[in-house]
Amino acid sequence: MANIIFKKPWENLNLKPTDEDVYFNRRTILKQLGMVTGGLIAAPFISACAKEAEGPEIETFTGDNDFTFEGMDALYPASQNTAYSLDRPITIEAAATQYNNFYEFIDPDDPSIYNAHRYVSTFDTRDWKIEVSGLANNTGVFHLGDLITEMGLEERLYRHRCVEAWAMAVPWTGFPLSKLINFFEPNNKATHIAMISSSKPSQMVGVRTQDWYPWPYFEGLRMDEAMNELTFMATGLYGKPIPKQNGAPIRLVVPWKYGYKSIKSIVKIAFTDRQPGTFWNQTVPEEYGFLSNVEPSIPHPRWSQENEWLLPDPDNIWKSQRFNGYGDYVAHLY
Ligand code: MTE
Repeated sequence: MANIIFKKPWENLNLKPTDEDVYFNRRTILKQLGMVTGGLIAAPFISACAKEAEGPEIETFTGDNDFTFEGMDALYPASQNTAYSLDRPITIEAAATQYNNFYEFIDPDDPSIYNAHRYVSTFDTRDWKIEVSGLANNTGVFHLGDLITEMGLEERLYRHRCVEAWAMAVPWTGFPLSKLINFFEPNNKATHIAMISSSKPSQMVGVRTQDWYPWPYFEGLRMDEAMNELTFMATGLYGKPIPKQNGAPIRLVVPWKYGYKSIKSIVKIAFTDRQPGTFWNQTVPEEYGFLSNVEPSIPHPRWSQENEWLLPDPDNIWKSQRFNGYGDYVAHLY
């Protein structure tokens, strides 16, 4: 399998040399301190039949999938909801599936932090269940296959903006989170939704070796954010079940927020009456807040957020947009 050679984030954009040094040494320095900061350093109108962007000649790698249920194959590819269009080409599949941010699958001995696809083969996603708890009527343990069958699937083209300034545009398959929330029937005391990722040390090299992180990965949204029409649960990518490195078998997608809000491989959902904590806020509170909306005018403490580069080309630099360009859908929430 061929791999794309990506430049490191500190080779891009307007990071100063000092930032580079800081970033490059960050993992070592903070490991010595006993903690690691957020690794969070991430066209023309495209229609339903959009072509992928031009990219290097590489073999497409989408990873192995082992999640399955009766009737799943018939659901892919799902028909596209054309209400959600892009302003840029779709990212080549090989880039979106080989440049990932998934800390559970970082091998500290691998110099790149983006190689999750190399370490996911041990991850068992068969027979996936989600435990739903808290302020709702329909709580309990649900088989993911049953939930997907109940929800149905559609495809949406969304932009994705990592806080580290890389960006992509991909076709997710899934269903609106609002539909799932309605199925669980939260009561009117529920103000927030919390989600938790799978955390299996024996299957996840990052969890096994990076004990300074507060595993499992956890995230949350306000209920009005969760119920917004853009907020999506993805079970597929590029018309197929989602690869493990992209968050198999189910992940959140919140396209107007920095990518770290889009929690992967979800095993628990809870409805609560208070703002839940989040993995990155707990790890580096001075750098990562709860809302985390894309806001180019507010720099990250260690780099600018004015621009972003599109996978797989660090020289393909675009201006970042407020709410990642989704202001018409979400600006009224803030
Ligand atoms: N979810 C978990 N469980 N663990 C992670 O490390 N990384 C986040 C988010 N969800 C992450 C996660 C970040 S920082 C980003 S940018 C996106 O996943 C990356 O999604 P992708 O790898 O599919 O592009």
